[in-house]
Order: sequence, then C-alpha cells, then structure tokens
Amino acid sequence: MGTVEDLRPIFSPKSIAVIGASRSPMKIGYEILQNILVQGYEGKVFPINPETPQIMGLKTQPSVLAVKEDIDLAIIAVPAEFVPKVVSECARKKVKGVIVISSGFAETGERGKQLEDEITEIAKKAGMRLIGPNTLGYKDPIDSLDAAFVFGMPMAGEIALISQSGALCIGMINYANGEHIGLSRVISVGNKADVDDGDVIDYLARDPETKVIAMYIEGIKDGRKFLDSAKRCAKPIVAIKAGRTPAGSAAASTHTGALSGSDVVYDSAFKQVHIQRAYDVIELFDYARALAYQPPAQGNRVGIISNGGGAGIMTADWCESIGLRVPSLTKKTADALKPHLPPITSARNPLDVTGDARFHRYYATGAIMLSDPNIDSLVMTCVHAGIARPREYVGAVIKLVEEKRNLRKPIVACWVGGPETDEVVQDLRVKNIPVYASASRAAKAVKCLTEEGRRLELVGKKKQKETPAA
Ligand code: COA
Repeated sequence: MGTVEDLRPIFSPKSIAVIGASRSPMKIGYEILQNILVQGYEGKVFPINPETPQIMGLKTQPSVLAVKEDIDLAIIAVPAEFVPKVVSECARKKVKGVIVISSGFAETGERGKQLEDEITEIAKKAGMRLIGPNTLGYKDPIDSLDAAFVFGMPMAGEIALISQSGALCIGMINYANGEHIGLSRVISVGNKADVDDGDVIDYLARDPETKVIAMYIEGIKDGRKFLDSAKRCAKPIVAIKAGRTPAGSAAASTHTGALSGSDVVYDSAFKQVHIQRAYDVIELFDYARALAYQPPAQGNRVGIISNGGGAGIMTADWCESIGLRVPSLTKKTADALKPHLPPITSARNPLDVTGDARFHRYYATGAIMLSDPNIDSLVMTCVHAGIARPREYVGAVIKLVEEKRNLRKPIVACWVGGPETDEVVQDLRVKNIPVYASASRAAKAVKCLTEEGRRLELVGKKKQKETPAA
C-alpha cells in the first residue's frame, strides 16, 4: 500500500478504539473520548479500559482483543511502560493504525528511546502505521473529527497544519481562530517514530480540502524522504524550522527527541524544494493565508497605495529591501490617476491618496494601479489618520479583490491603527483577504506570493522539458 492508503484509516477511520479511556474527567484518556463524541463522530467508538464496565454511557472492553468488530484506528493514552503491550495487542487485532499520545519516549533519554524503537518495530512488523508517540493527536474540522486531547476545534478552512509540538499546535489553532483563518486538517506528529512529515505531506498533497500546507518542525530524521515528498507536492508549503540556535536546538532534543541539525543545511534544502520559511507563528499564518487566498504574483513589481505618506514610504522600503521592486508608473497610469487625486499629491508609486480618501478614491486608484502592466501585485494601506474612513477603505479593498480576480494579481491590505478600528478590518479577515498590521508583514506576504509565482513558473518549465514534443 502507498502512504495515502496507509494513512486513510487513521485520518478517515470507520471505527476508533480509545485505549486508556478514563473515568476521570481530569485525565487525557477521558478528554480524547469526550472530544470524539462531542464532535458527533459517526463511526463506531470503543472505549478500552479494564477497570470499569462503561464510560460516558458506552460499554468498555478490557482490551482491543475483546472487540468483535474491526478497528481502523486505536488512540493510545496509557503510561509509556504499558504502550508496547497495548501496541502488540493492536497488532494482533489487526488494527490499521495507531496514535500514541503518551509521552515518556525518545524525548526522555535512552530508556525512552528503547521503548520508542520497540513500539515502532512492533507496528512495522504488523504493517500498522503509527503516529507519535508524544503527540496531541489530530483535529479535523472538515470532517468534524476531534482525535486529540484539549477541548476545542479549529475553524474549517483550506490550510493544513502539521506540528511537531502539541502545545504549540493548540496555540496555533487558537491564534488562527482569532484571526479568522480556517484550517483543513491539524496533525500533531510528535516524535515521528514512524509516520513523519514526508508521509503527512504526501497525504495532504492528495487531500482535496487542503490548498496550503503550514508546518512547525523541530527536526527531520529522514531528510531525503522529506525533500522528495516536498518536491512531489504541487501545493505550496510554508514552514517554521525551530531549533536554529544552540539553545533552541538543545531544547528541541528534550521536547520531541529531535535532532535539529545545521540551520544552513535546512535553509538551503528548503530553498531547493521551494518550501518558504517562516520564523514565527504570526509569519507562518501571514504567508499561509496569502498563499491560500491570493493568486501568486507573476513578477516582483509592487504597487503601493496608502492614505499616509509615511506608511507608503515604509512599505516601499520593506519591499525593496527584500528583493521586490517598487517601479515607476507608466505615463498612461499616471494620467489616469490624476483626476482621482487631490492637487497636493502626485501620481507616483508609492501613491499617497491622502488622509481624507473615501471609498471611490481607494477603489479607483487601486483599479488603475492594477491595470498597469508594470505592476504585479498591490499593497493597499490605511493608517488611522484621524479623518480616515476605514470602513470605506475596507469596502474598496473587498470590491477590488472580488472584481479584479481575472487579472491574477495579488492584493494585500495593511492597516496601521489600534483596536478602535480593528473590528472594521475584521471584515477583510472574514473574507479571507490578507490584512497585516505593519508594512514589513505586508511586504513579506507579497514576497511570499512572488516566490510562489516563481515556484510555479519553474515547475511549469520543468514539466515542459519532461514532456516530449508531439
Ligand atoms: N488498557 C486500557 N486501559 C488502561 C490500561 C490498558 N492496558 N492500563 C491502564 N488503563 C486505564 C487506567 O485504568 C485509567 O483509567 P481510569 O482513570 O478509569 O482508571 C486510564 O487507562 C489511564 O491510565 P493511567 O494509568 O491513569 O494514566 P494517566 O491518565 O495518568 O496517564 C498518559 C496516561 C498517557 C496521559 C500519561 O502517561 C502521559 O503520557 N501524559 C503526557 C501526554 C502528553 O503530554 N503527550 C504529548 C502531547 S503533545
């Protein structure tokens, strides 16, 4: 079987056993069972616990071996020393895949490493895929399956998240929810004893609900496999690779047993396979949202519109300092802009539409900039400015994004102001229009879309080369 078929029973199970399902609401095994039931999972659920006849109204079994029906997925939450026995029982029962939530494995030292090798070996011999150990599990907001502990689901969307850290994974879900960023699948891979990032990339590459893959990585064991998967994947991948410094690297080894490796090597490997690198959670989602909901840029020439000179200048600086260009406008564009501008401003790039701009000035100038053949992408900025009309600015950006899709030029918004108007800007987030609170974030998002344009161009050229002429 290929990876995708191997992993399907884990990610789309017809039946789930929760081994270590607990009577105590304070325990992880209780929470996992609860989360599965709360989300209304429609398959069969088998709580496994030798100490009690029932939990949450469901009959328990002392072991998976006592279950008469087939089990696709077993989620294991018993202390580490009991996991080998439980995994062996799963193998005998011909369970198709397991998720080992328990910690106490390679991340704790030599004894834990032996335990991890032991369970991996048992699973491999049985042809049973294993996620973890030391994992949160996964949350699938598209199919409403919460196979993880910690209560709460992400908003459904088109960005898949793979995380080596479970706690950070929850933090990222909550951040994404707050930013109105929807996720398709959230998979915590833990120590990656068997199923690793490469496998999950292969799986998500074929997932019709996922447009972009966002990752948090501490270390990669099989570099070749990872790079091959990333290369095969037609979807954009954006990743944080943590453990870049000696201090971070040492912390990663006790967190998930990861060997962080040389950052320079990771950096060049990521470049080779066009993985875009983010350096924190905010950046990861800035890029992921832009990649999921804006077209790739066909070149690096950026048009900038702002209602305040300072914001435009800063955006221009950021763009040029990271390899984008802020070109002069054609005479035709400048002439078309003039009637829409007050006499105190000049028709140039970056364009200052001044603090009193209303809907029409934003909209008309945005449309004209986008039609300039020397412009590949547009940053629309609004600063608070006292007399600014943020609601009209937001309306203009939404109209431009919706009406100018056919031009295939990305538009990102930038809002510089406080919570007073954040609520208004939320309308952009709800429509999945990238909006950033600083010039650097907006410029980097455009750079990310430009890199994606370049990646697609290179992939296209490579395909052409490989396809013999008729
Ligand atoms: N089969 C089925 N159930 C079993 C069992 C077995 N072989 N052995 C024990 N159980 C039952 C217990 O009776 C208990 O149920 P009860 O509370 O109703 O009595 C339940 O399974 C849990 O076992 P317990 O020994 O109480 O363990 P625990 O809940 O205190 O801890 C873990 C288990 C897995 C949660 C804990 O060892 C652990 O690893 N915690 C960290 C997890 C983590 O952080 N993972 C990484 C996240 S990113």
